[in-house]
Amino acid sequence: MQLQQFVNSDALNDAFAAQLVTILEQAIAERGAAYLVVSGGRTPQVLFAKLADTPLAWEKVTVLLADDRYLPPDAEHSNERLVRNTLLQRHAASARFISLYAAADDAYAAVPVIANRLSALPTFDAVILGMGEDGHTASLFPCCAELAAGMADNAPVVLATSPTTAPYQRITLSKARLLQSRQLFLHLVGSNKLAVLEQAQADTDQLAMPIRAFLQQTAVPMAVMYSPS
Ligand code: 6PG
Repeated sequence: MQLQQFVNSDALNDAFAAQLVTILEQAIAERGAAYLVVSGGRTPQVLFAKLADTPLAWEKVTVLLADDRYLPPDAEHSNERLVRNTLLQRHAASARFISLYAAADDAYAAVPVIANRLSALPTFDAVILGMGEDGHTASLFPCCAELAAGMADNAPVVLATSPTTAPYQRITLSKARLLQSRQLFLHLVGSNKLAVLEQAQADTDQLAMPIRAFLQQTAVPMAVMYSPS
């Protein structure tokens, strides 16, 4: 794991956007297409706006979420709504987006339709993860009954989870599918998140802090992009 520390979030987001654009341009040059997985929450919003302002062959980029709340895409707390309103704008408006939402009785009933959308995707070129103060990432929460299934090496591509410490049923890519990537990033802003990172690094129980599975693996390069504010 490589820790990149920046004096503030502006410096972080400028450097992070530049690194992501380099990865996406290289993917397009080598394979004719690029696959970018992003997370929701508060942290990535300025980064998304910087990417939207960046000229790139966005029509050759496929964007999808690592997880979403099981909400219609126009709902206030939908990650898809956040991505459509901040990232898929201006230059990046031409990117392809694959939704993790499908109308069904609940998140569990929606999984087969969503899994079908994701089944043919190749290795991801970049995955941007966030982290909660409980050490969750994507919607792999320590508290949820489905965690072991989502963290298993033979897990399905996507699953539904029901965290008890956060609202909404969730749709999340599994640990195994998120690790089928060329580069992982963990995007952290705030000294509170650095303390959680240090706690995650201090032990090995991955079910207690799921982010550990990503920090402690060595198969995929992992960069932690951090600033204190
Ligand atoms: C979500 C995210 C989640 C997020 C972390 C950090 O659906 O909320 O996918 O995993 O990345 O909870 O969220 P903040 O950036 O808001 O701290």
